[in-house]
Amino acid sequence: MAKVEIENVHKNYGAKEDAVKGATFTCEDGELVVLLGPSGCGKTTTLRMITGLETITSGTIKVGGKIVNDLTPQQRNVAMAFETYALYPPLTVYDNIAFPLHVMNLTKEDVDKRVRKVAESLSITDILNNYPDSLAGGQKQRVSLARALVREPTVFLMDEPLSHVDADVRYRARAEIKHMQATSNATVIYVTHDQVEAVALADRVIVMDLGVIQQIGTPADLYNRPANLFVAGFIGEPPMNLIPCKIEISENQLTLAIKSDEQIKLRYTDKDLSPSVLEVLQKYSGKEIVLGIRPQKLNIAQASKEQKNGTLPAKLIVHEFLGKSGIAQVEVDHTMLECVTPPVIPYKEGDTVCLTAHFEDLIIFDPATTQRITY
Ligand SMILES: Nc1ncnc2c1ncn2[C@@H]1O[C@H](COP(=O)(O)OP(=O)(O)OP(=O)(O)O)[C@@H](O)[C@H]1O
Ligand SMILES: [Mg+2]
Repeated sequence: MAKVEIENVHKNYGAKEDAVKGATFTCEDGELVVLLGPSGCGKTTTLRMITGLETITSGTIKVGGKIVNDLTPQQRNVAMAFETYALYPPLTVYDNIAFPLHVMNLTKEDVDKRVRKVAESLSITDILNNYPDSLAGGQKQRVSLARALVREPTVFLMDEPLSHVDADVRYRARAEIKHMQATSNATVIYVTHDQVEAVALADRVIVMDLGVIQQIGTPADLYNRPANLFVAGFIGEPPMNLIPCKIEISENQLTLAIKSDEQIKLRYTDKDLSPSVLEVLQKYSGKEIVLGIRPQKLNIAQASKEQKNGTLPAKLIVHEFLGKSGIAQVEVDHTMLECVTPPVIPYKEGDTVCLTAHFEDLIIFDPATTQRITY
């Protein structure tokens, strides 16, 4: 069992900018941490530095409390499954998966049990006698994942292991990774650019962008309390609505004027607001902010003549039926917003509607620093 600690780690490949800029995080013993971020943000580099396949420019990496900066990958005792994993062409799928077990002094029966169990969970039992060259990309990826899982390692690093796996099998493969982790109590650091996968798997998620860690938190933390505009836009499906507004606070009223047309205003009175939030926002009065509202928290209602508190006039542009729910594109002045709706709504495209949002569901960001300023 091992805890992985990364302290102020930098990686420079010779370019002006570091590929990883001062990463600091801990993956606790038995924890599943997901490194999430867009392409090129430094996820693979971070993982390769932990395995020892890449040198670090500065900083410290500890595995199980021991500094491993100068150890070889073999000495670090961490297992890695890559996005593309070279299988041994002369060996069958079965022998490829069994291969890492040979050094473990298991009985033939135990090897067989382990291989079949992992093969079954990844739906590759029917190809155990095939050779790698005859497999499709997604099958190869599942075989390489099986080969890594079969070792039941204590620290496990995975770089997009399911990126080529079909959606229907991906769900099961994901469940298998989570199950393996929970039962073996392995420490897992898992890399993906897919926020749905990250949120589904992780105990905690580390969000990276441009080589910098943006936020570390549970999936619920990231969803409910995104630290900045990047995290707000990256986590959640559909993405959070982000609307530039001007904020005005008078004695008992807070007004958010949509920037593209300041005549359109979202108002709240002091009974909607908590004094502590008002105090935080007071210093932004008269300034620009970015208003964030999750599509799940923005509701469509019938248009009314008089504009009530917590409402905005809007036009319904498109509504899609999605089975259990629906999704609407609505326009407020020239700003397009998304709302999650019931599957069927009593409005048609082109109708004037009213959007409603509770004040406690608004998240307000400072555009200058991009940081969240409320809650
Ligand atoms: N061996 C290398 N030599 C030089 N630059 C590199 C090397 N490997 C990565 N980089 C650069 O470092 C940055 C981070 O790359 P990295 O592969 O870690 O990103 P990533 O988050 O894994 O992206 P992806 O989602 O596309 O896999 C990129 O700008 C990349 O071009
Ligand atoms: Mg990568």
